[in-house]
Amino acid sequence: MLAGQGFFYPIVGLASCVAFIYMSFGDLAFPLMQSQMNFVEREGTQLIVDGNPFYVNGWNSYWLMSQSVEETSRPRMNSMFETAARLGLTVCRTWAFNDGTYNALQVSPGQFDERVFEALDRVIWEARMHKVRLLLSLANDWKDFGGKVQYVKWAWEAGLGSSSSNDSFFFDPSIRRYFKDYIKAILTRRNHLTGIQYRDDPTVFAWELMNEPHCPSDPSGDIVQNWIEEMAKYVKTIDKKHLLTVGFEGFYGPSSPKKLELNPAEDFNKLGLDFIRNSKVEEIDFASVHIYPDLWLPPGTNQEQKIRFVSKWVSSHIEDGEKVLRKPVLFTEFGLSSKNKNFSHGCRDELFKHIFDLIYNSARTKGAGAGSFIWQLIEEGMEEFRDEFGIVAGERLSIFRLIKEQSCRLAEISRGGGWGWKGSKGRC
Ligand SMILES: *[C@@H]1O[C@H](CO)[C@@H](O)[C@H](O)[C@H]1NC(C)=O
Ligand SMILES: *[C@@H]1O[C@H](CO)[C@@H](O)[C@H](O)[C@H]1NC(C)=O
Repeated sequence: MLAGQGFFYPIVGLASCVAFIYMSFGDLAFPLMQSQMNFVEREGTQLIVDGNPFYVNGWNSYWLMSQSVEETSRPRMNSMFETAARLGLTVCRTWAFNDGTYNALQVSPGQFDERVFEALDRVIWEARMHKVRLLLSLANDWKDFGGKVQYVKWAWEAGLGSSSSNDSFFFDPSIRRYFKDYIKAILTRRNHLTGIQYRDDPTVFAWELMNEPHCPSDPSGDIVQNWIEEMAKYVKTIDKKHLLTVGFEGFYGPSSPKKLELNPAEDFNKLGLDFIRNSKVEEIDFASVHIYPDLWLPPGTNQEQKIRFVSKWVSSHIEDGEKVLRKPVLFTEFGLSSKNKNFSHGCRDELFKHIFDLIYNSARTKGAGAGSFIWQLIEEGMEEFRDEFGIVAGERLSIFRLIKEQSCRLAEISRGGGWGWKGSKGRC
């Protein structure tokens, strides 16, 4: 947009006036805009903000950007943050990608739809207004919202693809280039609402390289390891302020043969992943783990067996964080499927309570378990998004109470008031 000078000057005048008010009154004048939000950092196995421990009661709503593109669906995004604030949730994990599908952010390699970028800007703004931070994921292993399949297709269409395998996402040099360009575009995006580049915005809790990377064509794990090393280094050359994680489920691999038996089944040993080796990469700040007893364990596994698996899975990874990795561990997805034969809300509540207790007990004793993220919360009227794990938090009092109780007790053991900003005590 071109504005005449007559239009330009008053804006400059207003801006300096705003700057003056801010310098005079600081936080008092702009309690919401002026971040009392600082970057989340890592100190050994702990997450900290302003020198105080930070524990995450988090959730997943992967759909925030896609729903905020159009005005008709945007209120869902706003009300999700309102619900989250009422629940005292601290971090939301969501997709900062949509590659080549409907309302794509990345229309083709390096080409972006400004409308969709503005939708992501809005998600970040809204999160900040509700004092929630975001764990932003940069790509998908699954084909939803494009994923690695889309990148491979783009490379082929450009005559650059070196292999038709979907795993070439990890090793094809031109696809690695595409992905690095993508990383750079996101991290250096200047939010049109705040004027702040994403890499400078403390609303971003951390970056995640990819949702659930799998590379079954290379069971040795070398390809994924090499990809993580290269991408993690690249992220840090652009952004040293934010934390970085990989985004995988936590399956053990060849570097820890004794731990292979903890994988849910033998097939999971062959995904080209290696929790210990991958998470050790220097630029990776915390380890990510998912928890899906019903997707991973054989059909017919009962609730008691699932709970037992979860106990071992969670404690083993927390122990790795403490003894081997010396990094925090975050359980960035967990859920119980409503498609289970004997599903009941009581079973789901029981599993959630169990996971919350494991996290709380680790946090209370200064262990490496730094938080967990429910998969997934939706708002009312979003039936098309309700996968077998979707929950409308306001719909069932028992789950609402459980989540809130976890938020409040984690807040209590963080000296700073818990949510990582000043004056947050009011929420419990
Ligand atoms: C890549 O993944 C897509 C989607 O899952 C699948 O349809 C396709 O067959 C895969 N390509 C190869 C070469 O395996
Ligand atoms: C489902 O419930 C029935 C009846 O209580 C029980 O016999 C069966 O073992 C349960 N199945 C699972 C997978 O929990």
